[in-house]
Amino acid sequence: MTKINALWQQYPTLKPELTAVLELMEKHIKTSDRAVNDAILTMIHSGGKLLRPAYCLLFSQFKETDRRKIIALAAAVETLHTATLIHDDVIDRSRLRRNQPTIQSTFGQDVAVYAGDYLFVVCFQMLSQYASDLRSIQQNAKGMQHILDGELHQRQMRYNTNMTIDDYLVQIDGKTAQLFALACFIGAFESQNTLRFARHCEQIGSQIGMAFQIMDDILDYTQSEVGLGKPVLEDVRQGVFSAPLLLAKQQDAAAIAPYLQDSKTLTDAQLVALRDTVQAVGGVTAAEELAAQYTAKALAGLNRLPEHPAKTILLRLTKQLLARKR
Ligand code: IPE
Ligand code: IPE
Ligand code: MG
Ligand code: MG
Repeated sequence: MTKINALWQQYPTLKPELTAVLELMEKHIKTSDRAVNDAILTMIHSGGKLLRPAYCLLFSQFKETDRRKIIALAAAVETLHTATLIHDDVIDRSRLRRNQPTIQSTFGQDVAVYAGDYLFVVCFQMLSQYASDLRSIQQNAKGMQHILDGELHQRQMRYNTNMTIDDYLVQIDGKTAQLFALACFIGAFESQNTLRFARHCEQIGSQIGMAFQIMDDILDYTQSEVGLGKPVLEDVRQGVFSAPLLLAKQQDAAAIAPYLQDSKTLTDAQLVALRDTVQAVGGVTAAEELAAQYTAKALAGLNRLPEHPAKTILLRLTKQLLARKR
């Protein structure tokens, strides 16, 4: 029996389709290389939260539609997400994801690159087989471009001590929010809603994604590796400055600046001191406020949707993400 993340115990109506999403992903993994196959299957069953496919499914529920098709499109979105995570862990040289050793650390960077590449192929196979409208495929390509742009922007700005919160917002819009936006768009658009309705859902998805990444960056400054299931406080040593740090710098530049002079060589003790300073000068609180602002915008957009059981779940889930701890 395929097991999905415990988050969905509270949302029993979503469980069967999310389970079907994972099973369909698993069915599509058939490379000739045993190591690549095993690596991907382990990753698929490592307990990811399945948020993007969940949003895709929820936004598709406003109209009667072919559920098999929507499940496949939700699987395509999660497949794209999985590919970006596998490659992200190569780029970030990360050892741990979902409390398990990453593909790159277990099987090597080469296997991780192939595994991610293969999942991009699977994503397009699913889309081309199941999407009813070419626009969905174009939208997917655009989503991939945005992720790359966001990642490249982040790379260009590494160790730049003049980086601002606006630079950060550009980065997270690309690397994270656009995939949430895509998930919501495809769910709405492929279930016979108007393009106008689907664009509204896309906009909501983008705001949910912004709040999600800001929260993720907050957890980096407030949680432990064990709680989060992935390493914490690695970003800053790699020159990646996120919302809590940038907002702390706005509040008290003198307290933060010394840590950024040569952040590559910060010791573990200095990193902990930086984390405490970020919290003490209000960087985490300010970042929480920023995430709450994006969530408020998303909730306002959701409130404008027609009354429907899916709307109730969307509102509840979106509020819940603001309080998540992993
Ligand atoms: C991790 O996303 C990458 C970010 C955009 C922060 P998730 O936190 O949704 O990853 P899983 O799929 O649940 O592990
Ligand atoms: C998240 O990247 C976005 C992508 C995977 C493109 P991060 O590097 O910020 O996320 P985590 O912390 O590794 O999940
Ligand atoms: Mg990473
Ligand atoms: Mg990264």
